[in-house]
Amino acid sequence: MAQGPRPNGGEGYDAAPFVPGRGGLRALRDAAAGCRGCPLYREATQTVFGDGRASARVVLVGEQPGDQEDRQGRPFVGPAGGVLTRALGEAGIDPAEAYVTNAVKHFKFEQAARGKRRIHKAPNLREISACRPWLLAELRQIAPEVVVTLGATAGKSLLGSSFRVGERRGVALPLPVFDGEAAAEGMLVATVHPSAVLRADEAERAAAYAGLVSDLGVAAELLR
Ligand code: URA
Repeated sequence: MAQGPRPNGGEGYDAAPFVPGRGGLRALRDAAAGCRGCPLYREATQTVFGDGRASARVVLVGEQPGDQEDRQGRPFVGPAGGVLTRALGEAGIDPAEAYVTNAVKHFKFEQAARGKRRIHKAPNLREISACRPWLLAELRQIAPEVVVTLGATAGKSLLGSSFRVGERRGVALPLPVFDGEAAAEGMLVATVHPSAVLRADEAERAAAYAGLVSDLGVAAELLR
């Protein structure tokens, strides 16, 4: 049985005390709005919880909300979301049937030296680990058949800090076990983050996008 990353250990950052022991996705969402499990809530506009149906067969896990998501309070509503929606459709997964969430539920950023622009900063391992109880609670509520991790942060959250996208992408992996309990019964497929497609040089963008669609195709096959 695949063993997940170790539970949060005494580092002071931990969302677990904020996660309600009962209730459905709505109860989780409401409680997450008040999460103070790590310092990221201080600068972010709001908690951006997952979005979609509790009956979803597939859960897509991104890194953290971006600027647009932080303002609007919903995951993947910005440019990366546009790439993801298109790639899902091409891979044969109806985006409306997927539940979309993030490994970290608050936007981490630094203020640009000049102007008002907020520059995305990747969450560190402590923040990823602190926020994991929300992700596991979502997975336990939804019990999806397939979880797709998008990029390194989501992969590290569920598969451990040594996770590398390039080494494990595009294959069906067992979902890890946390505290003796599987996050869900289904399989996990890792792939790149859609923003990697947006960041790729023009010459490499088509191949990066095709790779994302191909990995999502592995998830689509599992759902057939
Ligand atoms: N990138 C992510 O990882 N998640 C979002 O919700 C938006 C951009």
